[in-house]
Amino acid sequence: MADLSPLTSRPAYSTLTSLQRKRYLFVCINRRADDNPKGCCAAKDSEDVYRALKGEVAARGLAKLEARVCTSSCLDQCDTGVTVLVEPDHFFYGRVTVADVPEIVDGLITGQPVKRLMLTAD
Ligand code: FES
Repeated sequence: MADLSPLTSRPAYSTLTSLQRKRYLFVCINRRADDNPKGCCAAKDSEDVYRALKGEVAARGLAKLEARVCTSSCLDQCDTGVTVLVEPDHFFYGRVTVADVPEIVDGLITGQPVKRLMLTAD
């Protein structure tokens, strides 16, 4: 039987690199056909939100260590899109617009999420 101890004895995050950011923001840019009843974040200008968020994070000097902004496929929160998933905090922002971007980035700096945009179970 193979000795698996080198893998199993390491902390769970031992494979992460120095490029790991403190937070990752996943912006849904999923696009569906115009006649799809589920709608989609792309139809609500999520690609603009993604570009604005990425630009604001970079402009404030947060891109190297603090936060990485990534695109995502559907996060299954379509009704309340544009959806942004914040990890590792593990919450969603919903109904995000480009106008919300500075406040979201402020929240990354202060560690205080933008409560009015956070999706809750209800
Ligand atoms: S299309 Fe964006 S959450 Fe589903």
